[in-house]
Amino acid sequence: MRRATAIAIATALGCGQTSAPSAPDPVRELAGAYPEEATADGAVRTFEITAAETEVPLIDGGALKVWAYNGQVPGPTLRVRLGDTVRVRFTNRLPQETTIHWHGVRVPNAMDGVPHATQPPVRTGETFTYEFTPKDAGTFWFHPHVRSSEQVERGLYGLLIVLDRAPPPYTRDVAWILDDWLLGADRQIVPQFNTPHDLMHDGRWGNAITVNGRTDTVLKVAAGERVRLRLLNASNGRVYAPDLGGLDTKIIAVDGLYARAPLPLERFELAPGNRLDLDVAIGGAGRSIAVTDQFYPQRPNRLAEIEIDGAAAGAAAGAAAPPAFASPARAHVPAWRGVLGTPVTRELRLDARRGGEFGIEWTIGGEAFAGHAHAHPSMTLERGRWSHLRFVNASARLHPIHLHGMFFKVIGRDGVAVDEPFFRDTVLIHARETIDLGVVPLDVGDWMMHCHILEHAEAGMMTMIAVRAPS
Ligand code: C2O
Ligand code: CU
Repeated sequence: MRRATAIAIATALGCGQTSAPSAPDPVRELAGAYPEEATADGAVRTFEITAAETEVPLIDGGALKVWAYNGQVPGPTLRVRLGDTVRVRFTNRLPQETTIHWHGVRVPNAMDGVPHATQPPVRTGETFTYEFTPKDAGTFWFHPHVRSSEQVERGLYGLLIVLDRAPPPYTRDVAWILDDWLLGADRQIVPQFNTPHDLMHDGRWGNAITVNGRTDTVLKVAAGERVRLRLLNASNGRVYAPDLGGLDTKIIAVDGLYARAPLPLERFELAPGNRLDLDVAIGGAGRSIAVTDQFYPQRPNRLAEIEIDGAAAGAAAGAAAPPAFASPARAHVPAWRGVLGTPVTRELRLDARRGGEFGIEWTIGGEAFAGHAHAHPSMTLERGRWSHLRFVNASARLHPIHLHGMFFKVIGRDGVAVDEPFFRDTVLIHARETIDLGVVPLDVGDWMMHCHILEHAEAGMMTMIAVRAPS
């Protein structure tokens, strides 16, 4: 069936073209990059998660009123192994209805947590059981998909880490969740959401940045360690460009999946929703490294500290070299050369206009999302077929566009072909920029596509893609 699909594509592209010595065959090139189906040969891992209002000692140790999963911000980290089945018994004790969306995880459509589209919203006092077997190892996360600009901002998010069947032997596996909070003079969350200011700009940017819910996060390590550092941007709007102050750091995975090869961490814009897995070789005992956000280099933000103590246990004094093992970033990521020239399946303009509930609406392809209860797919893609999407940002704002249920690759920026050596589920589109994506959807269902600046999403910048079996 895969082969038939590939042939159909090659024929379609070759049709009417004169000199295409090797028409690109992106579907065939994709084969082996990631599995089509999950293999449920592990354990069933059951978690209880309750969302409720609570108070936590958060920013600078003060009591902050939040909404939290299991009474903590960030919520619990669910750690499973590839092959395990995740079962989450979720209870809603919030004053609003909610759902849980598993960001980046290729789940069956019914488990995707989109209210009305894939499940009824979970009302106050109700429970819902999510169950799925992840198809991919990597760093994923979960958050509500109802009024998310308020619910995520109030503290509802957590990590889902799917470990490899044989995890690489890092001396430490650490996760940092980056978030920012907009606090008022009372040091509490400013309870006005989706304000005109947030909507006209790049969403709600806070005045306090936390790593794992703290402003004073310190990672203590020993010289000679090799750390896997997983980063998640859980902010509503803020983009970070993490800098590890000269530590030998490589990117090994983006948005969960391993890259083709380890890449040096230069400027990487970690937009809302994005994850990065870093391979950090710790050298030079007795120093402290400031980890900063350089998105605006003239105004860097302090994120956390890495304190390097003595040599790792067992390492000879003064000769603490990090363990040598092959980086797990050796995945098959197709280059997809020549695909920027394939016909555009759908071109979508990103823009704003007056109107709607908040006075300003954000649109995709001229349409503002009508709300989940009235949603209908705005386009249909065929399972197993190459699809080429073009986003033209007609606005002067940022739009990190996120697709549910599938991974894509950026194949062009402002009309120039690019080969990012990794897949993504979220890509930051800058002001007036045009981005081309290639995607081969593999899972049938109705999947959201939206801006992950949550205020933009609430104000219309969402749509749904129907993925159907080829007829
Ligand atoms: Cu992380 Cu539809 O979102
Ligand atoms: Cu946006």
